[in-house]
Amino acid sequence: MSNPKRYTITSALPYTNGPVHIGQLAGAYVPADIYVRYLRMRYGKDNVVYICGSDEHGAAITMKAIKEGVTPQEIVDKYHEIIKKSFADFGISFDIYHRTSSPLHHETASEFFSDLYKQGVFVEKETEQYYDVEQEQFLADRYIKGTCPNCENDSAYGDQCEKCGTSLDPTELINPKSTITGSTPELRKTKQLFLSLDTMQPWLEKWIVEGEGRPEKWKRNVMGACKSWLNMGLQPRSMTRDLKWGIPVPVDSYEGKVLYVWFDAPIGYISATKQWAEDNGKDWRPYWQDKEGTKLVHFLGKDNIVFHCITFPAILKTHGDYVIPTNVPANEFMNMEGDKMSTSRNWTVWLHEYLQEFPGKQDILRYVLTANLPETKDSEFTWKDFQQRNNSELAKGLGNFVNRVVVLTHKYYEGKVPAGNPGEMESQLMASVSKDLQRLTDHMEAYEFRMALTAMMDIMRSGDKYLAETEPWKLIKTDAERTATVMNTALQVVGHLSILMKAFLPFSADKLQQILGIEVSDWKLSAQSDLLPIGHQINDAEMLFSMMEDEHIAPQLAKLDAIRKDKAAIAAAAAAGATAVKEPVALKDEITYEDFAKLDIRVGTIVSASKVPKADKLLELEVDLGFEKRTVVSGIAEHFKAEDIIGQQVCVLANLAPRKLRGIVSNGMILMADNGDGLSFLSPATETGNGEVVS
Ligand code: 2FM
Ligand code: ZN
Repeated sequence: MSNPKRYTITSALPYTNGPVHIGQLAGAYVPADIYVRYLRMRYGKDNVVYICGSDEHGAAITMKAIKEGVTPQEIVDKYHEIIKKSFADFGISFDIYHRTSSPLHHETASEFFSDLYKQGVFVEKETEQYYDVEQEQFLADRYIKGTCPNCENDSAYGDQCEKCGTSLDPTELINPKSTITGSTPELRKTKQLFLSLDTMQPWLEKWIVEGEGRPEKWKRNVMGACKSWLNMGLQPRSMTRDLKWGIPVPVDSYEGKVLYVWFDAPIGYISATKQWAEDNGKDWRPYWQDKEGTKLVHFLGKDNIVFHCITFPAILKTHGDYVIPTNVPANEFMNMEGDKMSTSRNWTVWLHEYLQEFPGKQDILRYVLTANLPETKDSEFTWKDFQQRNNSELAKGLGNFVNRVVVLTHKYYEGKVPAGNPGEMESQLMASVSKDLQRLTDHMEAYEFRMALTAMMDIMRSGDKYLAETEPWKLIKTDAERTATVMNTALQVVGHLSILMKAFLPFSADKLQQILGIEVSDWKLSAQSDLLPIGHQINDAEMLFSMMEDEHIAPQLAKLDAIRKDKAAIAAAAAAGATAVKEPVALKDEITYEDFAKLDIRVGTIVSASKVPKADKLLELEVDLGFEKRTVVSGIAEHFKAEDIIGQQVCVLANLAPRKLRGIVSNGMILMADNGDGLSFLSPATETGNGEVVS
């Protein structure tokens, strides 16, 4: 689609079972907000709609309600307000933040389901499912706990053992118990309506893998995840559930059942658009039904890829009236301070807490998250990096440059833009700004927001270098005319920055435009030498950013230390128990250095992964070694899901003789460590190029 007429942009609807944290921001909200702010400036705000809302159904909500001893409605009401407010205070510029418990959404999702039902696309199947007799309710997988058949952990869930990572069917659990009443559930027959994703597989393969009818390239991590699902072979998926909380299935003889949350949630994007259209006197239809003119882009984290690239497009395509996504620029995960983020362990930064603890500092977090977006692989947030980027890049970099220009303009010209007489140096500077503007724009169009931010900061650095070289504070004593040229040019650079900052740092951009006394928000593709006209009066200087001292981040570090100590205490207790029973593994026979030197171990990145059919333990991996890609069959399927390890850096024994496993030639071995309750990858502690030698 070269010239879409309009853009429908979505960010994943967060579950309302807790507040929003920075991992979610980095996955689905900050990148989408940057993109949307850019689109509005470049293509006009009437041609863009940015949709989000609360995902208020599903087991995530009902489990939280049980835990807090309140109703699901009370849970969603509480967290909807917290989430909505924190997004607004953080400046995420949704056109609407809706909710899936609204009557309009119930109606929309119900109608959508009925349309598909009338088309005859659902297949009825009888299944056996655990039933809690005391509660008179079928149990969702997460409502059943029991002993893991793999590692004997006695609190494994019906769908997964969180200790050893094995994915389970509830019937595999030993001694299953209902988490609601604690009673032993019984297996009962129940019927559900299934969507035949298997029959959609040929179309999905053409569209995703071959790119037929898909105008944009998709990101490598997204393609990898999709291919691993397609390689496993799609199965029919149940679109109904035996639950009380949700949207009733609009089909006779399905009373007491509700729509599967992953059926109704993405339709939430459509119902939110309807509400927005109604509130603003618009027609929602073109945003979802003009197949030629609308570019639909979904922003999300990697755990939601399959639903947005496979299930939802299959549903939209089957319905027939709807646009399918042009792109799904999903991000990987953001880790924190050397560990995976964990909401249950409080190992994250909650947005509403950040906003309270760092009032007025939204842009610092926006900046640091953007600079570290997990666009191609998992990334990391640390408070030291937060402090350091603020101090060196925002306060001493961007803030200082802007302030110097504004202060000197007041000092020399009473705040009026002086007339200039641009020479060679000025045209070189403006040409470099133009080049960076184009580069920035290209990165925006390609969903590369980290690089886009770098391009903006490069413009600032060019301006700063120009000031350092021309030294107007010295020049003013000898050459008034040349000083005026320098100051005019520097002011133009600051003017351009004030526009670009609107995409990344909207609060500081507004403040800067207020200082400059301008209101400009049309995107620039090349530098304009009269953005601030001669004689234009600017306002008083004000600092955009201030330094972040150690004491400002100390409370955050202390919080994490306390969590770390708790974790260490638990681990120590577990280890004490474990060492009592676990014999150390005996050392192998001694080898010489020459023996060791024969091993050629290289760093690589897993670029695709899929289960080997009929082999419980094996995953077929494609590993990028920089100089070539290798197929490696690895016995890790019981520990990792294929889609979770795409993008993982690993160490590969690269000169191991090839071996055939289940008909597949395996060309190397992935190095793993046994950490006591599972396997973990050995990977370099810092980012390392593929193909680098491990010695
Ligand atoms: O993972 C989640 O938080 C889901 N609630 C995302 C839903 S996205 C969309 F489909 F609504
Ligand atoms: Zn287990």
